[in-house]
Amino acid sequence: MRLVRLIANLGYGSQRDVKMLLRAGRVTRRDGTILSDGDKAEHEDILIDGEELDPPQGCVLMLNKPAGYTCSTSDPGRVVYELLPERFEYRNPIIAPVGRLDRDTTGLLLLTDDGQLLHRIISPKANVPKVYEAELARPLTGDEKDIFASGTLMLKSEKTPLLPATLEALDEKKARLTIQEGRYHQIRRMFAAVGNHVETLHRARIGALDLGDLEEGDWRLLEGDEVAKIFA
Ligand code: URA
Repeated sequence: MRLVRLIANLGYGSQRDVKMLLRAGRVTRRDGTILSDGDKAEHEDILIDGEELDPPQGCVLMLNKPAGYTCSTSDPGRVVYELLPERFEYRNPIIAPVGRLDRDTTGLLLLTDDGQLLHRIISPKANVPKVYEAELARPLTGDEKDIFASGTLMLKSEKTPLLPATLEALDEKKARLTIQEGRYHQIRRMFAAVGNHVETLHRARIGALDLGDLEEGDWRLLEGDEVAKIFA
């Protein structure tokens, strides 16, 4: 890809803006050689004002989402992009959330600009387990485990029953729930269907990937075999 396009696609500005950066001698190789429009260079060899470029196309990030942020720019209020470097919002292709978490759900959110990977993760065929922890308004009755595992639970206005889900009671008003799907407000609606109400919801894991020691509100790039862990 041409240098100007490569840099512009990473959100550093329009192609015109990037040409100006090049003309000003602000884009160099690691050895300090000034790059010009038309030069060829590898992503990891390019510096702007001495700084490494933002991650290349095909990146996957994990964010520890706090409550109060939405995953869609079309929803009102604060959006998860506000927790990432501003430039990330202007990338082409865009970095998009892999599925959604509700505004008040916290925890593990993946974002990527790799559309194929995104669809592989959210596809129902992939069967990627997602693990949530829910705090409930009322004590568990003990019936929920079998109802959720049955594969017959129908949510209002849905045409097909939910796939079996696994519930583990953590205490009388707290449960860990593993689901394979990602239907709209799924966990909140599942507990509403058994007469309860979710007070707080946290996604702890996607596949074998968890947040580790990532603080709430922080993000980091996935590295090495971490993408494979999603499907492990
Ligand atoms: N289920 C929900 O109800 N909300 C989420 O954010 C995720 C799963």
